[in-house]
Amino acid sequence: MKLVGGFVALLMCCYRADAAATVPKVIADPSEVVNQTSAVLVCNLTENTLLIKGSHWLLNGKVLDSSKSTDASPSTTLHLEKITVRSGGKYECVFETDPPVKKEVQVKTPPHVAAYKHSENGDENDKIVLTCVSHGYPLPFNWSWFKSDEVDGRQSAIANGTVGKYEIKSTPNKTTLLIQDLDIELDKGEYVCSGTSDLGTASAKIQLRVRSRMAAVWPFLGIVAEVIVLVTIIFIYEKRRKPDEITDDDDSGSAPLKSNSDTNHKDKTVRQRNSS
Ligand SMILES: *[C@@H]1O[C@H](CO)[C@@H](O)[C@H](O)[C@H]1NC(C)=O
Ligand SMILES: *[C@@H]1O[C@H](CO)[C@@H](O)[C@H](O)[C@H]1NC(C)=O
Ligand SMILES: *[C@@H]1O[C@H](CO)[C@@H](O)[C@H](O)[C@H]1NC(C)=O
Ligand SMILES: *[C@@H]1O[C@H](CO)[C@@H](O)[C@H](O)[C@H]1NC(C)=O
Ligand SMILES: *[C@@H]1O[C@H](CO)[C@@H](O)[C@H](O)[C@H]1NC(C)=O
Repeated sequence: MKLVGGFVALLMCCYRADAAATVPKVIADPSEVVNQTSAVLVCNLTENTLLIKGSHWLLNGKVLDSSKSTDASPSTTLHLEKITVRSGGKYECVFETDPPVKKEVQVKTPPHVAAYKHSENGDENDKIVLTCVSHGYPLPFNWSWFKSDEVDGRQSAIANGTVGKYEIKSTPNKTTLLIQDLDIELDKGEYVCSGTSDLGTASAKIQLRVRSRMAAVWPFLGIVAEVIVLVTIIFIYEKRRKPDEITDDDDSGSAPLKSNSDTNHKDKTVRQRNSS
């Protein structure tokens, strides 16, 4: 291993010493794309003595298949026809030499912020988490949350770590606001999350509704009431049916010319029914 390392070092030293001008370099034009709707990225390989087997482009480390070329050309071009928040990122042109030579070109877009859910429902005295996410490049380095005033729409900043009430947690691509001990009147309304990157600020709104404790209990009470009514009806029905049947038996028993055994049999069935 040491021997190989030494050999490589020796090679590099001599290479540089006798041909400093032949170290391959990539010139990217433009070197950076900021806030544009389209762009043409060009990389030229200069001062190259290596064999070029082809070229391709990477976006955030992933090969862009459509950019693959087997040309021996020292120039490669990538057309970005419509730059959206999804197509921003770190682009790299790669010349397939041995070793490969590459150059990074950053494509930056203004921040994009979206609410995970545009409206949320919470229960009184319970807690809720509101979430906003961001895509694109670069991601926000600063997040803040606001609550809009119901009357004049003015936004007031929400302070993190307000004991027992608010807690904000943020990463570049996501922010969450935890609200505890929800109050029907004070906590309902419009919340705004706002993310700021080098290229500006973007925000999203979330509407929060707070239901009263009773609202959650009503459907359950409804079912209980329904069951009580049903059980009462069945109970009353059963109570009334029994005397009717006995009267029926009495009617048939009162018929003339009935044998004794027949009446005994009927008595027995009635007694059995009563005991069950
Ligand atoms: C890159 O190469 C192309 C053709 O090979 C040339 O037209 C262009 O001007 C070069 N661009 C730069 C920045 O060197
Ligand atoms: C983030 O934004 C808030 C409000 O806009 C500001 O008060 C705070 O200083 C900012 N923080 C950073 C690290 O820029
Ligand atoms: C908010 O406060 C909590 C704990 O008090 C902490 O874990 C969290 O990192 C803070 N968030 C921000 C954005 O400062
Ligand atoms: C957000 O960033 C974290 C690391 O910072 C990463 O693991 C996660 O996949 C990202 N989520 C999205 C949706 O991009
Ligand atoms: C980005 O471009 C748009 C118009 O294309 C412009 O309105 C906006 O101010 C620009 N933003 C920045 C941060 O340059």
